[in-house]
Amino acid sequence: MPSSLQCQDNHKLHVAIIMDGNGRWAASRELMRAAGHEAGIEALRRVVRAAPDENISTLTVYAFSSDNWKRPEGEVAALLDLFRRFLDTETEDLVRDGVKLSIVGRRDRLPQDLVHEIERAEAATEWGDLLHLRVALDYSARDMIIEAAKKAAGAGDLTRETLAAQLGAPEVDLLIRTSGEQRLSDFLLWECAYAEFHFTTRLWPDFAENDLKDAIAVFHHRQRRFGALQAA
Ligand code: FPP
Repeated sequence: MPSSLQCQDNHKLHVAIIMDGNGRWAASRELMRAAGHEAGIEALRRVVRAAPDENISTLTVYAFSSDNWKRPEGEVAALLDLFRRFLDTETEDLVRDGVKLSIVGRRDRLPQDLVHEIERAEAATEWGDLLHLRVALDYSARDMIIEAAKKAAGAGDLTRETLAAQLGAPEVDLLIRTSGEQRLSDFLLWECAYAEFHFTTRLWPDFAENDLKDAIAVFHHRQRRFGALQAA
């Protein structure tokens, strides 16, 4: 990690997004919550398309937290179904657009057919080199850190570097959360150690290319010091 980084440089960015507000978006239109999640997929498509032009090389999005299993059975089923359809319908476009897809989080509690779809989509997109899209599914940062620490310690070498290598993601430069909430909700706790945060009241289904551009523009005006003093 550099001791100081001007945000204006050509550093490729890791942007993380907590896509929040689908339910409120649907409720404000008297629609079912699932319709909000459907509209959320459109917003994700827009952001994935716009990301490379914003110098983003890694995009991690929070689609389903390990705590989301506490939601009503019907909503969980609708979300899992949406993920299946997303993998089924998007893979071809992701390959065409040079996007490598990875699903991060636990897989042992996901339905077997969804795990197969994930493996198929990851294999199909593995050569994508324009953008790495990481979708967090059944994800808990605390659980990921525990697992990574166990592996690093098991190999007899638990350091910041080995733990970070086990987690397998670059540090987050910018974390965006939509819908006015301002918390991390067990997302990328380790990787966000020095992330800049951008909170917007925009509900996720309304999030557009310009919102991403605005967030990146604000980020570029931040002075990141990583604990050091500002360069003279
Ligand atoms: C939070 O909104 C959103 C989620 C729990 C699901 C996120 C899923 C998508 C955006 C669907 C597309 C994703 C993929 C990868 C296919 P909320 O339901 O908590 O909204 P609320 O706070 O307004 O109730």
